Amino acid sequence: MPGNRAPTDDIRTLDDLARGVDRCRRCPLYRDATQGVAGEGPKSARIMLVGEPPGDREDLEGRPFVGPAGRLLDEAIDEAGLDRRRLFLTNAVKHFKFAPRGKRRLHQRPTAGEVDACRWWLDKERQLVHPALIVTLGATALRGVTGRSASVQSMRGEAVALEDGATLVATIHPSFLLRMPDRARAARERAGFVADLVRARTLAA
Ligand code: URA
Repeated sequence: MPGNRAPTDDIRTLDDLARGVDRCRRCPLYRDATQGVAGEGPKSARIMLVGEPPGDREDLEGRPFVGPAGRLLDEAIDEAGLDRRRLFLTNAVKHFKFAPRGKRRLHQRPTAGEVDACRWWLDKERQLVHPALIVTLGATALRGVTGRSASVQSMRGEAVALEDGATLVATIHPSFLLRMPDRARAARERAGFVADLVRARTLAA
């Protein structure tokens, strides 16, 4: 692929898209990542869940939400009465961004420019899957879907109409729950997270 550009003409299927994501050079994140991590799930999915960048495990396996945050997300999906196999799970940024600390690779928040560069891929996924409902997990995902910065709390709980006809439900990212030291608060936040997923299920029905 020449220069900085991603392929634009030949993305007709989700498989084309996954190959394109892996070859993407739209921002520098590809340099240190093992591979690009495209979304996963059926093209017929009515609900798309959008995360942030893939984490360490996802970078190694090439699949979204297969690490600790993914396990928590799986539990919440089950409790909300959803079936992961029928959802399309993806990320606003397709390459892992990290800082090395000894043998560990610590997750780094992508810049707004990196999120905006990767919107090209998220938009393609939205065009191919055409979900009725999009759940954004965290502020980076919210920017990836809407193209602007807003706090999750300012939009949480609302059903927002997007230009392509889909409905947006903004919620927290599961890793926020993993980082919370106060167990009582974590339990309350987790219940709220499951309630947001139930709302998404109801709105997409
Ligand atoms: N966090 C994300 O936002 N996405 C993943 O795929 C894994 C962790």
